[in-house]
This record gives sequence, structure tokens and C-alpha cells, in this order.
Amino acid sequence: MTKALQWGGRFSAPPDAALLAFGSSLDDDLVLAPFDVQTSQAHVAALAGGKIIDAPTASALHAALTKVAAEIEAAQFGAFAQTSGAEDVHGAIDARVRELAPEAGALLHAGRSRNDQVATTLALYAHERALQGAQRARSIARHLLSRASEELDAQTLLAATTHMQPAQPVLLAFWLQAAAEPFVRAARRFTAAAAFAKEACPLGSGAVAGSTLSLDRAAACTRLGFDHPSRNAMDAIGTRDAVLDVAQACARVLADASRVAAEIVLWATPGFGYVRLGDASSTGSSLMPQKRNPDVFELVRGCASEVAGLYFGALTSTVGMPLSYHRDLQETKRLGILACERTLAALDAFERALRDTSFNRGAMNAHAGDGYTVATDIADALIAAGVSARDAHALVGATVRAAEEAGRPLDTNDLAALAREAGLNAFNAPLDAAASVSAKVTEGSTSPQAVRAGLASMATELELP
Ligand code: ARG
Repeated sequence: MTKALQWGGRFSAPPDAALLAFGSSLDDDLVLAPFDVQTSQAHVAALAGGKIIDAPTASALHAALTKVAAEIEAAQFGAFAQTSGAEDVHGAIDARVRELAPEAGALLHAGRSRNDQVATTLALYAHERALQGAQRARSIARHLLSRASEELDAQTLLAATTHMQPAQPVLLAFWLQAAAEPFVRAARRFTAAAAFAKEACPLGSGAVAGSTLSLDRAAACTRLGFDHPSRNAMDAIGTRDAVLDVAQACARVLADASRVAAEIVLWATPGFGYVRLGDASSTGSSLMPQKRNPDVFELVRGCASEVAGLYFGALTSTVGMPLSYHRDLQETKRLGILACERTLAALDAFERALRDTSFNRGAMNAHAGDGYTVATDIADALIAAGVSARDAHALVGATVRAAEEAGRPLDTNDLAALAREAGLNAFNAPLDAAASVSAKVTEGSTSPQAVRAGLASMATELELP
């Protein structure tokens, strides 16, 4: 029987090696190692606080765990864990402590189950990844805001689309603001998930029913920075809500990133020519020498699908599961961890690629008025002059049809003709993209004043100077 296995006394034969390997989560949960050390240190505090171990034993355990933390930090622990024969990182840390401090180490697991250990450790992990997600989302939002300010100063115009068809002229700054908003919301979602992860501390719940040992749960909880000890041991060891919330925030933020990425991929095509991808974030082709491919943005888009699947997998791994701990929860853990790790890597890549992407202002300005994108403003001007919305729409629609057939843009003659048809004396409406943008008056619109106000409000929310 391998020394690192934390059970076995009641069996007369060793477990099947292949089945033990099948059940191992070491490859997936090694990333939890530093958090397990914190959980274990807190458990030592609970044991000492409850006088279950004496002060010298507690010191020996703290010292051994500090040593393990250093080994983790120095990337030495992985090699030990992989050869330790432990089923998971939690067992591996216990095994290393027993190796470093055999006598004290034998007491570390008193009153503890891997069930409360895993639940606590995973909550600590979820909390940290949520904070990192919030930080990254804020950083992306900040970058987009700073690009928006630059483009606001340059008054760069863009033909906004709906259904990918030319719709109305906007400022590129307005598009950048629209791209930033979801990341501001994502940061809030991550921050809420982080706070939630540290509400109820499962440590001291034992396997399912609590303990007959007088564990000082409050001491463990305070040490780890949770709000309070969990109220029900069965729920505490059986829930994976903390990591699920963070994984959900991950799936959501990558869905947001994927939309920006998809638009940039389109804009980088010769058909648009709106952006140029930097050398550092572009990829070539092994065959076609001329290529400059937007692989990073495509991978971000692919990752978004992957992480949505990971979140869904993590969630459904809990569906239909009776209360308490079941080994299926090991899958929840694995999928939740993967979702977090993939997301942080993808967001980092996304931000780097964004920073390396430049806008072709000339191409954007040149096309902002294409496709009769001022038509709505002209109809609005008729409405403001007293024409019904229905008549205005029909009149301008017919004017656009005639201009399109003649292959020319709308001009002042069209406005004069519209005025005559509508029985108006004089009537003014924007005829180019810049005039269209400036004519907007509603809050949240693409007018320069509204965009400036929107950017300022977002900067306040992001606590920018
Ligand atoms: N490797 C398991 C996990 O990560 C540890 C918990 C095992 N608990 C148990 N009762 N078998 O979920």
C-alpha cells in the first residue's frame, strides 16, 4: 500500500493501480497547492485553538507547511507530488508534511476530511482567480477607454452596422466605449464572485457531520479571511457554488471578448481594412508568404466557446447529485479550475493583442457615410418638422432608392425635394457622417458630448484619475 494513500487500514488488498490512476486528480489540482497550504495552516490553528494539539506540535506543523509553501513557490513540489503516490494535491501536501515532520505530521489530519479541505481550498482558489479576473477585466476596460479618448480627440468616424449592414454613423470612440462597457460589468461580476467565495468557511465541517473534536472553527475562519464559519457541514462540503460563480463570470467575460475579437478579425480583412494587427500579435502562414493572420483574436473566440463548455460541464456535473460529497465533485473541481486558468490566459492574450492593434482612421472615415447611413437623421429631421414617422420613413426610403439607382449619395437637392413633398418651407438635416454624429442629442448617444460624458462616468467607475 502506498504510503501517501490516506486510507487503506480496513482493506486487506491494495487498490487496482489502473483504477487508482483513473481516480487521481493530481494533474488537475496541483494548481491548488498554495491554497491547500493556507487551508492546512488554518486547520492547525483550529487544532491548536481547540487544544487538540499542543503548542510545539502546532509550531512543527506550521514550520513544515511553510517549508512546503516554499517548495511550491520554487516549483519543486510538483515533482514530489507526482511521485508521492497521492491521489490528489491535498494528499500530496499531507504526505510531504508527514515526511518533513513525521511525529507532528501524523496529527495534521485530525478532525479533518478531504471533503472540508477540498471545499475550503477550492473557495480560496476561486476567490483569488475572481480577483485576478476583475483586475484583468478592469485593465482591458481601461485600455479601451484610453483608446476611445484618443479617437474622440481625432473625431474618427465609423459606419455602425446592425446585421452587419451599414446602419448609422458613429464615432469610433463610441464603438470603443461599447466594447469597454461589458468589461466594466465583468469586473463587477468577478468582484461579487470573489466576495461570495469568502463568505462561509467550510473548514471544520469534517466529512459531512462536523466533529466530536473541539475544533476552533472561528480561528480557522479568521485566519483565512472568510466572513463566518459555514452553518451546515453537509452543505458546506457538498457545494461548489464559489467556483461555479467564478467559472460563470469567466464564460461571460470571454463571450464579451469574443465579440470584440470577431469584429477585429473582420476589420482586419482587406474588404474592411479598418485595423492593422501588429507584428508581435500576428501570425504568418507556413505556405503563403504574404499572410498576416489574426490568430490571437481567433483563439480568444475559440476559448470563449471552450470555457462556456467548461462552465456548463462543471455545472452539469452537479445536476441530480444527492446532497453531501460525491466523487463527481472532483470533476466539478477540475472543470472549474480549467475554466479559470483558460480564461485568465485568454484575457491576457486578448489585452496584449488589443494593445498591438492600430486603427486605420482614413479607411473608417472614408466609409462612415457609405450605404446612406444618414437616412435616419433625415427622417428624424422631417419628424421634428411635423411629418409623421410613417410618412417620413416612406419619403426618405423612396429618396434613398432613387439615389441608389442613380449611383450617387444624398445631397441638398434631395433635402429640397423632400421639403417640397412634405409641404415644408425650409428643412435642414445632416448629409454627412460628421454632421450626423454631432446632431445626436440623447444621453448615451454617439454625439461627442455624450461619448465624453460616458467615458468620464466609466473612468469614475474604474476609479481612474
Ligand atoms: N480527490 C478528491 C477531490 O478532489 C478528494 C476528495 C475525496 N473525498 C472522498 N471522500 N473520497 O474531490
